[in-house]
Amino acid sequence: METAYIEVQKLSKTYSAKNGTVEALKEISLSIPQNEIFGIIGLSGAGKSTLVRCLNLLEKPDSGTVIINGEDLLTLSKEQLRIRRQKIGMIFQHFNLLEQQTVLENVCFPLEIRGIPVKQRKEKALQLLKQVGLEDKAKAYPSQLSGGQKQRVAIARVLANDPDILLCDEATSALDPETTKIILNLLKEIHDTMGITIVIITHEMKVIQEICTQMAVLHKGSLQECGSAEEILKNPKSKAAKRLLMIKETEEETDYVG
Ligand SMILES: Nc1ncnc2c1ncn2[C@@H]1O[C@H](COP(=O)(O)OP(=O)(O)OP(=O)(O)O)[C@@H](O)[C@H]1O
Ligand SMILES: [Mg+2]
Repeated sequence: METAYIEVQKLSKTYSAKNGTVEALKEISLSIPQNEIFGIIGLSGAGKSTLVRCLNLLEKPDSGTVIINGEDLLTLSKEQLRIRRQKIGMIFQHFNLLEQQTVLENVCFPLEIRGIPVKQRKEKALQLLKQVGLEDKAKAYPSQLSGGQKQRVAIARVLANDPDILLCDEATSALDPETTKIILNLLKEIHDTMGITIVIITHEMKVIQEICTQMAVLHKGSLQECGSAEEILKNPKSKAAKRLLMIKETEEETDYVG
């Protein structure tokens, strides 16, 4: 049995809304080994974003624990947590770039926050832009880029802090299938060369199929099944996993008939 790098134990989170409460997470327990590309899949409202925000305590769970590399995040001081979070990168569906800043300035930003001198941060940012294939766009503004290029800038920016964990919340959901493939390949390359543990949140089975080695299926705040992606894709046991695969099959059929 591999040792867990990210270990979540009995994580629960309930939101109160005007018309009652929502149990976004119900006693979720899972283990993510180091250097894995781990997928978390579920329909809209399953609790995926809540779970991923709990992994770096952007969201505070009502109960349960989050242990990363043996360290219980809930026991850290505010300052210790701030420093730990710098090594947990996050990318999102809508890229979250600074629109008034150039591509280079966007990538320099986390380095500036850490007080890295101008010359060094520019050097590092340029090297990262090269790594994501965007060195020629250093002086462009986000509005001048395609969605795929924006996500590559976001990836370069997140790598500036040398993260050991990368959390991707629907990072390819705003992109077309071709661009999705390019971004997933880039994430795989980063994983292979830099040894980063990657957690991919998605509602699309094809994203899991493309790069995930292990996966978890969430439905209405509960963990339905968890394990080898290959196994679950081949032989899904939970209703939720079957449904997510069925939706895909139906789409393919429609494509075929159409
Ligand atoms: N800040 C909040 N206040 C109240 N309810 C919330 C809040 N955040 C999430 N929820 C509720 O918790 C449940 C889980 O939401 P979450 O955003 O985690 O789902 P998700 O799986 O990421 O969905 P999607 O695929 O649409 O992004 C939903 O019912 C949602 O309405
Ligand atoms: Mg979400």
